[in-house]
Amino acid sequence: MFSRITGIGSFLPGQPVSNDDLAKRGIETSDEWIVSRTGIRSRHLAAPDETASDLALEASRRALAAAGLDAADLDLIVVATSTPDFIFPSTACLLQSKLGNRGATAFDVQAVCSGFVYGLTIAEKFIRSGSHRRALVVGAEVFSRILDWSDRGTCVLFGDGAGAVILEASDKPGILATALHADGAHHGILSVPGSICGGKVIGDPFLRMDGQAVFKFAVRVLAEVADECCAAAGIAPSEIDWLIPHQANIRILEATAKRIRMPMDKVVVSVDRHGNTSAASVPLALDEAVRDGRIRAGQKVMLEGVGGGFTWGAVLLEL
Ligand code: ACO
Repeated sequence: MFSRITGIGSFLPGQPVSNDDLAKRGIETSDEWIVSRTGIRSRHLAAPDETASDLALEASRRALAAAGLDAADLDLIVVATSTPDFIFPSTACLLQSKLGNRGATAFDVQAVCSGFVYGLTIAEKFIRSGSHRRALVVGAEVFSRILDWSDRGTCVLFGDGAGAVILEASDKPGILATALHADGAHHGILSVPGSICGGKVIGDPFLRMDGQAVFKFAVRVLAEVADECCAAAGIAPSEIDWLIPHQANIRILEATAKRIRMPMDKVVVSVDRHGNTSAASVPLALDEAVRDGRIRAGQKVMLEGVGGGFTWGAVLLEL
């Protein structure tokens, strides 16, 4: 038993918000600084009443339509998010209710920007075990809610959005290899170190980051896990048609591609228009590149995640 992606969808809230728009809102920054350090030109920000499950719903409807399925056909719903609607129930259960599915297995995955790669790998294992046949895997985030808008070193980097795939049981392999890792010793370089207790926020409810430490860590592990995943599938990195790394920063993408000797014209880039959408970034980029015809059936695509925890991983698949 294998699993294949049979439908992809994504959703971005509202209109693009440019770097100049951020400067006009009073953030002491410039388009020149943001573009030269990160490659980000604009991002989308959810409206105050839009939640992760709302964005997930739109992306999921598009993925279901692409697969020619109804929500009732799903027997597994996995949502990767670090910005859930509530502490509980899970965003996956809220999405399930909005979709009108009853009875499927549904849960959230918390692996920050690696969340989608973690969720896809988990769903693949459910399907390969024979226990489930049709999974919806979503990355959905409203990171704008956990940004300190007075910290120009972090607030300009992120955006909101959602991406979703349908993964179905198949006789033919679609997912060729996976690799997941974490090293909690690095939890301090990227975190939202707050919690709720007795009705009050304890600690810091905003995203904090040691940008340079994150940069070095991300490039090293993204290169290592690409090699590991290729070795597991018995192929050379040069045989990958498209690399879709987590869209954190164009300089991280370029440095990773260089380390694995992948030309940038084989790397899907959406960070310039989406910013860093955490768990949503990889399925958003995948959807864009499939819909605009760059990624074609039969091609080998490597998805890569890296994020807080620290967590990292890769999925090599054939569409
Ligand atoms: N606009 C203008 N100036 C700024 C801004 C801004 N938005 N942000 C910081 N600066 C200033 C700083 O105040 C500092 O000024 P000073 O020298 O007068 O003190 C100067 O720019 C340099 O600041 P640094 O933080 O040292 O800038 P650096 O060159 O390290 O770039 C950056 C920061 C872009 C965050 C970089 O470290 C990076 O790319 N890190 C990767 C982190 C990342 O992408 N994280 C995403 C989340 S992690 C993930 O998804 C895996």
